[in-house]
Amino acid sequence: PMPTLSRRNGTLTLETTPLTAIAESYGTPCYVYSEAAIRAAWAAYREGLPPEAGTIHYAVKANSNLSILRLFAELGAGFDIVSGGELERVVAAGGKPETVVFSGVGKAVWEIERALELGIGAFHVESLPELERIATIAQAHGVTAPISFRVNPDVDPKTHPYIATGLARSKFGVTLDEARIGYRQAMDHPALSVVGVACHIGSQLIDDAPLIEAAERIRRFVEELADEGIRLTTIDLGGGIGIRYRDESPLDVAQTLRRLRAVFAGRPERLAVEPGRSLVGAAGLLLTRVEYVKIRDDHTFFVVDAAMNDLMRPALYEAWHEIVPVVDRPECLPRTGDVVGPVCETGDFLGLGRTLAVAAGDLLAVLCAGAYGMTMSSNYNTRPRAAEVLVRDSSHQLIRPREKREQLWADEFALLPNA
Ligand code: LLP
Repeated sequence: PMPTLSRRNGTLTLETTPLTAIAESYGTPCYVYSEAAIRAAWAAYREGLPPEAGTIHYAVKANSNLSILRLFAELGAGFDIVSGGELERVVAAGGKPETVVFSGVGKAVWEIERALELGIGAFHVESLPELERIATIAQAHGVTAPISFRVNPDVDPKTHPYIATGLARSKFGVTLDEARIGYRQAMDHPALSVVGVACHIGSQLIDDAPLIEAAERIRRFVEELADEGIRLTTIDLGGGIGIRYRDESPLDVAQTLRRLRAVFAGRPERLAVEPGRSLVGAAGLLLTRVEYVKIRDDHTFFVVDAAMNDLMRPALYEAWHEIVPVVDRPECLPRTGDVVGPVCETGDFLGLGRTLAVAAGDLLAVLCAGAYGMTMSSNYNTRPRAAEVLVRDSSHQLIRPREKREQLWADEFALLPNA
């Protein structure tokens, strides 16, 4: 499931770097990303949506390491952010604020001020009160705020169970009715300029029908607005294209983008997308070491040094990630068991019922962990966050050191109890 991962002489190798070398240099647990895989994923997006057809805004939440953001900035990506923190990361990595779109239901005053100060491309407004807040702040600062409404196309959920965020009852976006009101308000407001419309119907989509359906609804809506004299510049279709974790047949990115473009054939607006997972998910893995093989009468646990605090997806969503030994061990008897971490929670597993031929001390790779891995990690159980490494061919570079234990409580106060 990872394009640049292969087994060479029995050893798992990312591009041409053996993962054993990574573990030796940086220890475990460790996130490892392949630059070539990210470039390949980007190329598919660019093929389907060339610069003259639209813009690609990388969803920073998927993986926000500065080196990854820098790579995307150099490839010509814009960015989709959901917080002031992500905005500062983009700037720190050399991204241009004017390529940034700002999504999220709870934008705080300071986040709006900072985004206006830096001059972002567009606020994706998710409620009428938010529109009012943005207008007030922009007016107070004597600037114009570029806005798009994030609309909720309410695509039928029954036939497409993967859609979670495009439903009328979800907290995201505004209904088309609310947007109609909002656009009129924005058109009349001197401190607001209308940029376009945005939507994002969900993540890990493996079927393009809901995407196409949402696009068709957006097209009808855009035409209706145009009839009213509300002309948009940009139509942002969000992210959501899925990847193969297990046996899914993922969408062909370039082809899906061409289909989406076809929906808008003849329309003057520029298209935009906000992919996260499909740009970085299959480019990264989590490298971990087996601490113990714990065998009980009828059950085996592979206790590893990575845990739910490093990769939360299995515990949180029962997400399935392939787990493979880094070095082949033909002499070792395969056993079936659960791959678990050291965290004190029953839900702390990376994989259940896996058949592995490994012994204590062996390395395992948890695949397709490049998206929503490190960014969702925590310090639960006072565990330092893992190191991150970027591989290019046979060279590798540390892009974030493992956190130091003392760092974790450095800002805390040990108050004296009242005597
Ligand atoms: N745009 C907006 C407004 C979003 O909310 C998201 C993701 C994206 C773009 C990027 O979607 P993608 O292309 O990555 O599917 N933590 C979950 C995924 C949460 C996605 C949230 N929104 C997971 O680990 O599966």
